[in-house]
Amino acid sequence: MSLSEHLPSDTVVYDVVVVGSCMTDLVSYTPRLPKAGETIHGHKFLIGFGGKGANQCIQAARLGAKSAMVDYVGQTDEASTGVAPITVNDEGQNAIVIVAGANLLLNSEDLEQASKVIGCAKVVVCQLEIRPAVTLTALKIAHKAGVKTIFNPAPAIADLDPEFYKETDVFCCNETEAEILTGIEVCSVASAGKAGSALLEKGCRSVIITLGAEGSVLMSLDKRTPHYIPTKKVKAVDTTGAGDSFVGALAFYMAYYPCMELEEMSRRACDIASVSVQSQGTQASYPYRAQLPQELF
Ligand SMILES: Nc1ncnc2c1ncn2[C@@H]1O[C@H](COP(=O)(O)OP(=O)(O)O)[C@@H](O)[C@H]1O
Ligand SMILES: *[C@@H]1O[C@H](CO)[C@@H](O)[C@H](O)[C@H]1NC(C)=O
Repeated sequence: MSLSEHLPSDTVVYDVVVVGSCMTDLVSYTPRLPKAGETIHGHKFLIGFGGKGANQCIQAARLGAKSAMVDYVGQTDEASTGVAPITVNDEGQNAIVIVAGANLLLNSEDLEQASKVIGCAKVVVCQLEIRPAVTLTALKIAHKAGVKTIFNPAPAIADLDPEFYKETDVFCCNETEAEILTGIEVCSVASAGKAGSALLEKGCRSVIITLGAEGSVLMSLDKRTPHYIPTKKVKAVDTTGAGDSFVGALAFYMAYYPCMELEEMSRRACDIASVSVQSQGTQASYPYRAQLPQELF
């Protein structure tokens, strides 16, 4: 019997459940990134919806996932709205400041209230833009209920609680995060393989390290040899949120194609993320299912 059969009939079941952040992105487009103490002119500004949690949720939804966020939206005097001032230069590179604000107020009681929705999901996705202890609780609730978990340790913290590794099915990070967590400099497929091995040693079942324009490297306990998945060569306009597009797409595949090899899921997630870098904005750049080649589905 599935868990959902025990729920009151008005409880809605979601397939991809994200326990994470919502932020307001304040994006300035400039010729280059400013140096310390410098003021430069930008040529465009926009306000967008962001936050790693919301971004990943939106990308999964745009591919067709029935998805939800556990974020308990409400008003409070105790913190500001989470904001992310972002600068994007003409090469599409970015520099980002995050002030998590109200995202840090999400607590374990909120998760308790959401525990049925978490336990009935096909996939639960977490990051580190809310309090780490709350993130860990979410992963534990999911894992205990037999729900697949994706953990994106972003932004990375060097002294991550080792329990995170054990509660995670797919540990998905970028080069910087892999380096902070393992102390191994990641700048190539080979070094990503070394960092991936170190993460497997810590207790992860599968590890994906994304390598920007290079694609990604995948390793798992049963296939310890690093598997390199190149990405399509495209002209990057704005890479902000590419990693979130990848994670959201991965969540979609894990929820709806449970028999697909993780390798194939990563390849498709790479393709989807490489579409997102070809237009401006974060969520604004995430493709919908109808805009993508049908071979991806
Ligand atoms: N310049 C690029 N060209 C093509 N694909 C890209 C580019 N940058 C990122 N991607 C895609 O987005 C994924 C995540 O990018 P990455 O930069 O590693 O994440 P993050 O946004 O966390 O830094 C990559 O694995 C790749 O598929
Ligand atoms: C990896 O993601 C973090 C945000 O968590 C970002 O600060 C960093 O620049 C990214 N690294 C690369 C190489 O893109």
